[in-house]
Amino acid sequence: MKLPSHGSNPHYLYNSLGIEMPEHYVDFSANINPLGPPPALLEEWKHSFHYIHDYPDPQASVLTKKIAAMEGVPEQSVLVGNGGAEIISLVARWLAGKRVMIVQPAFSEYETACLANGCRVTWHMLEEGVWELELPALDGIDAIFLCTPNNPTGIEYSPQAVVHLIQECSERGVYVIIDEAFYDFLEEAATYTAHLPDYSNLIILRSLTKMYSIPGLRLGYLMADQEIVSRISAYRPHWSVNALALMAGEICMDAEDHVKRTREMIESERLKLKDFYDSSGFIMSKSSINFYLLREPDTADASGLLRFLLENGIVPRHTFNFPGLSGRWLRFAVKTGRDNSSLMEVLNRWRKEE
Ligand SMILES: Cc1ncc(COP(=O)(O)O)c(C=O)c1O
Repeated sequence: MKLPSHGSNPHYLYNSLGIEMPEHYVDFSANINPLGPPPALLEEWKHSFHYIHDYPDPQASVLTKKIAAMEGVPEQSVLVGNGGAEIISLVARWLAGKRVMIVQPAFSEYETACLANGCRVTWHMLEEGVWELELPALDGIDAIFLCTPNNPTGIEYSPQAVVHLIQECSERGVYVIIDEAFYDFLEEAATYTAHLPDYSNLIILRSLTKMYSIPGLRLGYLMADQEIVSRISAYRPHWSVNALALMAGEICMDAEDHVKRTREMIESERLKLKDFYDSSGFIMSKSSINFYLLREPDTADASGLLRFLLENGIVPRHTFNFPGLSGRWLRFAVKTGRDNSSLMEVLNRWRKEE
């Protein structure tokens, strides 16, 4: 049985478990804004067919300028890419052959990309269920990946602990790659961008596909010291970001109301779910964002629950390929009130049938 290594595309999960896909299902396995893309993008999309008739700007200059102005960094410190996934792959290419540590559990692409580039990868495993950031032993490593707020737990690490890590790494010449793919779902978006001028070992990754619900378009960026950006950008294929994605990025960066509405909705839905899980005996991770981990108190393996949910049209993300979780937990996106109610209703049935 080879389970898919990512969420989304649920037919792969149904196929690998040999479960017939119900006609109606709700996909909780991808952490995408349930409100969809900003309305202004939908409007512009209707008039955008002409973009495919020409090559995109290989430098993504308009979007780069816009990101730099909004983030308060020089344009030369920004690199736009074809999704956070391409950015991770470019960083791994730049780190080829180096000794890389990953704070786990975390998004699996850091390891996949680093191994593909001949890096020697080690893990700094955080305590299960608590997942507080503790300073790892940094001797003998060249770079460390940290995802905050973290995928898959949804936990935001303490800013003091993160800054301490950046400082310690700076003193030892270790690069710190902080993935902020979900930072904009936090009630108060916390970013480490302000530390870029002081720490040339700091690299920040962003994705636009989650908050703006454009995973099919692909768009992300990196912010770092200009010298690092220049070296990493040398590995990026020409025209890697398509013209529609560039157009969408410019609109998304202005969609402040959409972001505000999303945060409010996610926050209130997550609290509702937490009440439900507390009162029905499930353990939920202390998430601050749009997804969370869930487990039964006594089971070492969530396979039975996973199967029951899939049969009942609820698609969670399994955790067999997250180090330190090993299938004990399931990950769910926070979706609309209606979808979350469907999930709670199926979980109530599971409790009754257990
Ligand atoms: C933590 C994290 N970083 C980066 C990515 C890549 O996102 P994308 O390539 O869609 O921008 C993902 C996707 O799930 C993710 O979870």
